[in-house]
Amino acid sequence: MRSIVVTGGAGFIGSNFVHWVVDNQPDVHVTVLDALTYAGNRENLAGIPDDRLTFVHGDICDEGLVDELFASTDACVHFAAESHNDNSIADPSPFLRTNVQGTYVLLEAARRHDVRFHHVSTDEVYGDLALDDPARFTEDTPYHPSSPYSSTKAASDMLVRAWVRTYGVRATISNCSNNYGPYQHVEKFIPRQITNVLSGRRPKLYGDGLNVRDWIHTEDHSSAVWAILERGKIGETYLIGADGEKNNIEVLEAILEAFGLGPDEFDWVKDRPGHDRRYAIDSAKLRAELGWRPSHDDFAAGLAETVEWYRQNEDWWKPAKEATEAKYEAQGQ
Ligand code: NAD
Ligand code: TYD
Repeated sequence: MRSIVVTGGAGFIGSNFVHWVVDNQPDVHVTVLDALTYAGNRENLAGIPDDRLTFVHGDICDEGLVDELFASTDACVHFAAESHNDNSIADPSPFLRTNVQGTYVLLEAARRHDVRFHHVSTDEVYGDLALDDPARFTEDTPYHPSSPYSSTKAASDMLVRAWVRTYGVRATISNCSNNYGPYQHVEKFIPRQITNVLSGRRPKLYGDGLNVRDWIHTEDHSSAVWAILERGKIGETYLIGADGEKNNIEVLEAILEAFGLGPDEFDWVKDRPGHDRRYAIDSAKLRAELGWRPSHDDFAAGLAETVEWYRQNEDWWKPAKEATEAKYEAQGQ
């Protein structure tokens, strides 16, 4: 593989993936296709030399542009999406357009140009598990999405499966758990709480705070996606997770502790409608078949590094903070 198109490469996980490829795959040229929505930031790719990266400012729904890029690439790794549940509840329409229509446009171009396609998806397509259920999601768990966001991701996964079976598109799918690390937008749980403290606000917990997420460092997501792109079996789905189940109170307590704050120094706010209770990933298939292992096994250490990154990069997050909080406040969150 010499050239890859990375859609959504200026977003949180996409940009971390691009840095990972530049650092670990010296012979690969990356072309990022990103619309630079509110969630995309060209600064996320700062410092990458021009001979390793071409940046294309454009929309995955633009058939002509996608066709042109796919005519001269070996592979596409598709991260571009509307990605935030709360936004999808407030206005689902951009989720339908980017997540469903956009994936369709990419699949058609992959079909025309026989491009190897990897589709990046979420464990949220499986719905949620009960807190007292010992089960975890596997590749065989039935789809049961709860939110407009997760239902559009589920739809995009189904399109990929159909394009593999019907047209022979060479595609794989990964469904990953919640990511944390640098460059994550301040609307998401961990960066919101860190930047609340850094900007003199109190952290906010939804509902009863007992919802469980299965946290993985974004670098481990990157290495897993690369393993699947290189060695994954066409038509297969792989779940990506690093055994990082924690409830929201535990995560918030770790953040408060990192700032030397007491465990009660936050506000309870209104719950999210349809709020999924628990996500948990069984990544045995990925580990057994492709030999992948996460390298970040210490959540407290990874979180402390992430807190430090936001402390050091106020210029990066400050411009988005006021508007994000104003939106949450209007929703009672
Ligand atoms: P993000 O919102 O931070 O980034 C999305 C990127 O896509 C942005 O750079 C944005 O500008 C770009 N984009 C949006 N619409 C576009 C369009 N129409 N055309 C071109 N570019 C467009 O999202 P993220 O958290 O980095 O998530 C990336 C992918 O990983 C998504 O597909 C998401 O479903 C999946 N995922 C995320 C998580 C998580 O914890 N954040 C977990 C599992 C899977
Ligand atoms: P989020 O980062 O939005 O990811 P997802 O909904 O995709 O899992 O939220 C993670 C968890 O944190 C989820 O249970 C909702 C909760 N949450 C809060 O308690 N407070 C907040 O301010 C936010 C943004 C999320």
